[in-house]
Amino acid sequence: MSGRTNFSSGLGFILVAAASAVGLGNLWRFPYLAAEYGGGIFLFTYLVLAVTLGFVLMITEIAIGRKTGKSAFWAFGRLNKKWHFLGIFSLVIPCIILPYYSVIGGWIMQYGAMFVTNQADIVAADASGFFNTITSAVAEPIIWAGIFLALTAVILLFGVHKGIQRVCTFLLPLLIVLIAGLAVYCIILPGGLDGVAYYFIPDFSKLSGEVILAAMGQVFFSLSLATGVLVTYGSYLSKKENIEKSVRWIEIFDIGAAVIAGFLIVPAVFAFSGGAPESLGAGPGLVFIQLPQVFATIPFGTVVGAVFFICMFLAALTSAVSLFEVPVAAIADKFRIKRQVAVGFVFLCATALAVIINFGYSIWSDFTIFNYQILDFTDLLCNSILMPILAILTCIFAGWILKPEQLEEEIENGSSFKAKKFYHVMIKFIAPVCVAVILIYLISQSI
Ligand code: PHE
Repeated sequence: MSGRTNFSSGLGFILVAAASAVGLGNLWRFPYLAAEYGGGIFLFTYLVLAVTLGFVLMITEIAIGRKTGKSAFWAFGRLNKKWHFLGIFSLVIPCIILPYYSVIGGWIMQYGAMFVTNQADIVAADASGFFNTITSAVAEPIIWAGIFLALTAVILLFGVHKGIQRVCTFLLPLLIVLIAGLAVYCIILPGGLDGVAYYFIPDFSKLSGEVILAAMGQVFFSLSLATGVLVTYGSYLSKKENIEKSVRWIEIFDIGAAVIAGFLIVPAVFAFSGGAPESLGAGPGLVFIQLPQVFATIPFGTVVGAVFFICMFLAALTSAVSLFEVPVAAIADKFRIKRQVAVGFVFLCATALAVIINFGYSIWSDFTIFNYQILDFTDLLCNSILMPILAILTCIFAGWILKPEQLEEEIENGSSFKAKKFYHVMIKFIAPVCVAVILIYLISQSI
């Protein structure tokens, strides 16, 4: 994007930011975590954290971007030279997420291809067997992840990502309507209501440090926090726009998409797999195992499934574009090289890492790090360790180094800031202390 203030209207900003936020985090990650971490209690914890911690961090990042007019890499240093390291830190996280995001993106494309070529019955006949077969193949998943990354790179190279994101702002509602329709279908299937009860009624005896950490990581991932993406988006936002209102809308889109996806997948686990603990704890494969079974039982299931996977693929692609853009912008700026060269470099690095992550399912499937398979470990490292650390540092920076008044002024800027008092207390005290306590508690537990 050239020049600042590139969003022609506040609505444009909200839709583009929502298109980046809504992706695999909502449709793939949220449902499997909700199923695994006790259903209702996970949903409850997630919602509380999203509207408190998520809200405060999102406002802070967008305000830092708008105040400096700089992308994440430079913005922190522009406000205080000693804190330039936060810009570097926030660059590292998308570089770790992008490779495994593209591995999942590749799986989606493979599923989509099966549905488009009318082979849905093969997938549904043995849903978990099919998932294991395609993910444990040596070459194919790497090729699909490579295609996913290449498409992302092409979109960035041709500078059409704003166009693509606009298209997605139409497709997103379609995807949400599809998910909602399928959710209603699964809920009324025998067993579906048990799934609703599991997903919706919190069982507070299941609340644990692990649940809170998983929900917190999901808030960071899903809202694209602590990755530099929102700082960069903020730098393009017009001074006239009301940041607080925009953030509320982005949250409504993002939380809404995740919650509805949960209403589809969790009841599906109960309807098709009886809600057994092994099924609920299927992890990253859950959505891929449940969805084909749902499509197999509805009229025109192959067509609906094909449309569904295409929409899901596009939602993933827009999020991948924003992840890819962070290192490209930083490298191109820092080393004063052409954007094309930076795109090529990031593409090669991300593909190499995607190969390693894929091997974790095939030739290195016995290799684990702290008992985690490679993809699970990278996901955990980012969402449960690096993002919380970056979030704590961002709160310290905004609350104590910059002083919240500076950002509050930026947020107010002509409009009112309704949650100002709440923001002040949260950013200075509650948010950094709570995130630090959760992180230290869990690290001490696992040592
Ligand atoms: N929020 C995106 C999703 O839910 C993922 C993402 C994370 C995108 C961080 C950009 C930055 O899929």
